[in-house]
Amino acid sequence: MDFYDLIRSRESVRDYDPNRTIDDIVLNRILNAGRLAPSACNKQPWTFLLVSSKERLEAVRACYKKSWFQQAPHILIIIGDETKSWVRYDGYNSIETDLAIAMDHIILAAEYENIGTCWIEEYDFKILSDAISLKENEVIFSITPLGYQNKGYQKHGNKKRNPLEEIIKII
Ligand SMILES: Cc1cc2nc3c(=O)[nH]c(=O)nc-3n(C[C@H](O)[C@H](O)[C@H](O)COP(=O)(O)O)c2cc1C
Repeated sequence: MDFYDLIRSRESVRDYDPNRTIDDIVLNRILNAGRLAPSACNKQPWTFLLVSSKERLEAVRACYKKSWFQQAPHILIIIGDETKSWVRYDGYNSIETDLAIAMDHIILAAEYENIGTCWIEEYDFKILSDAISLKENEVIFSITPLGYQNKGYQKHGNKKRNPLEEIIKII
């Protein structure tokens, strides 16, 4: 698929086929896209936690009660380690930026594989961190379901975005 078509066609999917898991080979291709993402000073301060087992899915699903979230056959959690990420002289830590870039690489790779994703921030942090036994120095900024869309799913296809001339400044 043409890169710009891919960017245009990706949209948040909120309708997953619960009975169709993703083959390991495809999952590996998608997660490898995250592995190749840039990070400050190439620190790669991340772990990609893929939740696929029945028991762990049940525990993690409790962090976000939406019905479509309950259907997804996989949930990806990108965990960051704040002690491994790059820190600037003034204390700025690049962890959130690094993790967002990795997540975006993964989300675009999933789109290329015709697999739906949806960034989720509105989860219950306590439930999620307990479900995955998050350690003290570890952080999470976003998670996404990974799954094929249900049969009959139609993309909305209408990107509501501000026009370029409103958001570009050339000085
Ligand atoms: C950082 C971030 C957090 C988001 N959190 C949620 C969320 O908790 N629940 C949800 O349904 N969508 C969430 N979204 C999806 C946005 O609503 C969506 O990306 C936006 O409306 C644009 O639509 P599109 O992704 O279909 O292009 C989130 C997106 C981002 C980038």
